[in-house]
Amino acid sequence: MDYFSQSIKQAIRTVPDWPTPGVSFRDITTVLQDKTAFRKLIDAFVHRYHGHKIDAVAAVDARGFVIGSALAYELNASLVLVRKKGKLPFDTLVEDYELEYGTASVELHQDAFKPGDQVVLVDDLIATGGTMLAAARLIRRIGAEIVEVAAMIDLPDLGGSGKLQKEQLKVYTVCS
Ligand code: PRP
Ligand code: ADE
Ligand code: MG
Repeated sequence: MDYFSQSIKQAIRTVPDWPTPGVSFRDITTVLQDKTAFRKLIDAFVHRYHGHKIDAVAAVDARGFVIGSALAYELNASLVLVRKKGKLPFDTLVEDYELEYGTASVELHQDAFKPGDQVVLVDDLIATGGTMLAAARLIRRIGAEIVEVAAMIDLPDLGGSGKLQKEQLKVYTVCS
């Protein structure tokens, strides 16, 4: 990991045993509160995609919105919200995915992209990869192309980034 990524990583607060015993929760609020770290984080993504043809940034509800909106603005791209089920008012597509216990669903407006749109899919963190994979499936169902799946944090022990790569998704993470 380079110096740049290391300094962003240092701003992440790890909270042990939250929300349940055994979980090391990566709290990104401390990155957002640190103006230098927040700028470095957004700059890392901007640098990654600058000069590429990116039509839209798709951001995952809720923490992905924070990164995705700043990135879309900087890339002069559209911002598309992938939301938890029941929040979008127009016609939607839905994908269910597995959580550690039970299932959850994400939703996308069916007119969110034009076929062939070049999309970066952004969230804060990849754990099992279930959330990103469900979001990616929604985007592909509309016929848009995912240039890359991007997150601030990868938790490689949970296998999510590997699972995404097996689905022919390129994965970029700033730190792990
Ligand atoms: C968290 C995190 C990612 C997801 C990663 O979101 O922000 O979106 O879990 O886990 P996965 O790779 O195992 O799917 P969560 O839905 O818990 O909460 P949020 O609404 O605060 O983003
Ligand atoms: N989402 C899933 N696992 C997480 C973790 N360990 N920290 C923060 N968000 C998460
Ligand atoms: Mg989330």
